[in-house]
Amino acid sequence: MYFNLGVKRSKQDFFNFESELGTFVRELKSVETRMIVIKGIRRAGKSSLLRVGLAESKMPYLLLDARALGPFSPDQIYDLLAGSLSELMEKHRTLKKFLERVKGLSISGVEIEFVSRGRPTLVEVLKKMGAWGESEDKQVVLALDEAQEFRLFPKFDGLLAHVYDYSTGLKLVLSGSEVGVLDEFLGKEKAKAPLFGRPCFEIKMERLSKEKAGEFLIAGFEESKKKAKADEISEAIDVFDGSMGWLTSYGYHASRVGHKKAIEKTIQEGAKLVEDELESFLAIRRQARTRYLSILKLLSSPLTWSEVKRGLMAKLGRTISDKQLSHYLHELVDYGFAINECNKYALADPLVARACLRMR
Ligand SMILES: Nc1ncnc2c1ncn2[C@@H]1O[C@H](COP(=O)(O)OP(=O)(O)O)[C@@H](O)[C@H]1O
Ligand SMILES: [Mg+2]
Repeated sequence: MYFNLGVKRSKQDFFNFESELGTFVRELKSVETRMIVIKGIRRAGKSSLLRVGLAESKMPYLLLDARALGPFSPDQIYDLLAGSLSELMEKHRTLKKFLERVKGLSISGVEIEFVSRGRPTLVEVLKKMGAWGESEDKQVVLALDEAQEFRLFPKFDGLLAHVYDYSTGLKLVLSGSEVGVLDEFLGKEKAKAPLFGRPCFEIKMERLSKEKAGEFLIAGFEESKKKAKADEISEAIDVFDGSMGWLTSYGYHASRVGHKKAIEKTIQEGAKLVEDELESFLAIRRQARTRYLSILKLLSSPLTWSEVKRGLMAKLGRTISDKQLSHYLHELVDYGFAINECNKYALADPLVARACLRMR
């Protein structure tokens, strides 16, 4: 069902993005492609593309979702990997033979645990996965969802570069909402970064056009056997724009509590979610909190760099250097709260504006 909440896992629940899905599956299957990167703002449908594509490709995979266990901490990597390995071993019993030989790993039945948590064990596991893939004449996909979070694990980019260069039985897929941070992790412009210069195939998940958003809502209501009025659909699109996530959430609620309440509920829940995301961004930028919030409030309508500067100085009643302003805007774009399109800055998501209204 299109309006089911949560990450989509099957093609029949996955609306549109046929070309992105087709490309993704093709590149997954192409032996030469070493790394695929999926980019897009929050709630664009990256995780859904990842899941549906992996299922469609029928390839064996390890999927580590940095957000699965709450806010990411480096040590979680072992639990994420153990869980994913267990799932894979259940499907492919031949894997057991390879993993049994890894020191630091305990296997009972299909339950896998890291008894020694250290880089050598991690490296060894990945090596064995590659060897298993080669022995089965398959590539195993190592997929990292919200991959930029893994930068918090010491030298993880180095580990990935090693996999890229030497483990041809493994293929990398990285997806991320904080596109600027992900690029930095990939060493895009840093010649000394471990992953620098490694070719990768990029897939960008864009927002839906207004037209497509309308088609999505109509198809979703049809599927759930609910009638929706044209003016209600157009109001929903005005409020939620082409955000896959908010449109899904609106559709889900509208099928249960009707249009008006669904709009309210989605705004309410969505703004709270965005507020939490903004709070964690601001938590390590305390001194500039007011400035960031003021900029975001200004961006409720798209502005050029100079317009932001003028507006911000008027708001704060003091001068801001060009360098500072560029830094703030850069950070907001890098972390996926704002976008820079056609020489104007705008909010990435319509609910950022609502979230900011609640914040001081
Ligand atoms: N192509 C799609 N068709 C139907 N629903 C989708 C699609 N893409 C995303 N969704 C819905 O939108 C929400 C956000 O999707 P998700 O894949 O988690 O996005 P992201 O990983 O980019 O944050 C989820 O509720 C999901 O069900
Ligand atoms: Mg996701």
